[in-house]
Amino acid sequence: MRISDNSADSIPFLDLITPHLELEQELTGVFRRALLSAGFIGGPMVEEFEKAFAEFCGTSDAIAISSGTDALRFAIMACGVQPGDVVVTVPHTFIATTEAISQAGAVPEFVDIDEDTYNISVEKLQHFLEEQCTWSRWGKLVSRRSGRFVTAVVPVHLYGQMADMDAILELAGRYDLTVIEDACQAHGAEYFSAKRNRWMTSGSMGRAAAFSFYPGKNLGACGEAGAVTTNDSSVADKIRMLRDHGQSKKYYHDVEGYNGRLDAIQAGLLHTKLAHLTRWNLQRRDRAVVYNRLLSGNHGLGLPFEPSWSRAVYHLYVVRTAQRDNMIAHLKRAAIGTGIHYPVPLHLQKAYTSLKYCADDFPVSARVASEIVSLPMFPQLTEGQQIRVADEVLAFTSRNHSKPAEGDENLLVPAEQTA
Ligand SMILES: Cc1ncc(COP(=O)(O)O)c(C=O)c1O
Repeated sequence: MRISDNSADSIPFLDLITPHLELEQELTGVFRRALLSAGFIGGPMVEEFEKAFAEFCGTSDAIAISSGTDALRFAIMACGVQPGDVVVTVPHTFIATTEAISQAGAVPEFVDIDEDTYNISVEKLQHFLEEQCTWSRWGKLVSRRSGRFVTAVVPVHLYGQMADMDAILELAGRYDLTVIEDACQAHGAEYFSAKRNRWMTSGSMGRAAAFSFYPGKNLGACGEAGAVTTNDSSVADKIRMLRDHGQSKKYYHDVEGYNGRLDAIQAGLLHTKLAHLTRWNLQRRDRAVVYNRLLSGNHGLGLPFEPSWSRAVYHLYVVRTAQRDNMIAHLKRAAIGTGIHYPVPLHLQKAYTSLKYCADDFPVSARVASEIVSLPMFPQLTEGQQIRVADEVLAFTSRNHSKPAEGDENLLVPAEQTA
């Protein structure tokens, strides 16, 4: 076993203090600027951040919003999804994805995920569209399950890795569906679009995309915050109205909207942190390489998979083991923080019993949810800390898993099934 430094110290799942201390002067300068100008809502700090974030994502517009959930809700509404429509997404995501769909007046229907990337399975999406939908006599796609019009797909770029967007956009085009990216976990993630023959940034491929700047995200505010990105100026205009009580001009309300604006202070803080995001994302990618090296060849442990068309930004570093709960308990005893993202797929959540899905409707999501563990992952994680995490993971798996037969290297072998 390797000797690691800091062995007596606990290792947090996430360190939100160090990056803020590193930038303390710049960040407190933002408060001063807001206090001296009393520009708390809207104004130059919000506009400057929007411009910089649009540039970062490679889109014409970014609209700052009060949270990722509202960003996704407004994006769905602004893209023309009508109350009662079906929006297709995955059960393996944070509930905010489907909350936003429901709060836009639509109904979520699920397609299972890909076992390797944990993102929407293109094959299953195709199967859903071909086998579980039909065309109405008005030429609109209808879900056989609910009898409702299917009008949009929300791929979720989970854990910081983009879904297979070329294939999704191709299918969506064939079925006249709008694609709205849930990019809430994928700031700066990239996808090589064979169709466009270039790398595309998360948030620039769908008709619109939603980002969350919840504090623990790769780009996190010091509170709640979100944004929509889009290349469609009419969508951008609608979102600007929706976030601001439906007004196109002060006290002239074209529609009934929401109070979904982002505070100027949060925009200023995000703008300051945005300058460091590319470096932080590269550091996360480096940490992932180190974990992969330390943990590879460990039978019984599934590691993250990055297809050749993906440059993930590792919002989370997620491994799989059939002994998940025991591994978490072991790591907790070793003072190592972990997370589960997420333990119960949405089709099995109490909140969605009304959708009437069965336990085995989405077997990959259900299996993945029972086996995943998120290990500590943040830009300031040291190699010594990673070595200690890996040592503890290896100590656990070597005790709890046997070596699989040749050719079965990727199989998960629960301890109770071995001698
Ligand atoms: C996949 C996904 N979608 C949507 C959201 C909602 O973002 P927020 O918490 O900013 O409302 C999150 C936040 O965790 C998320 O992870």
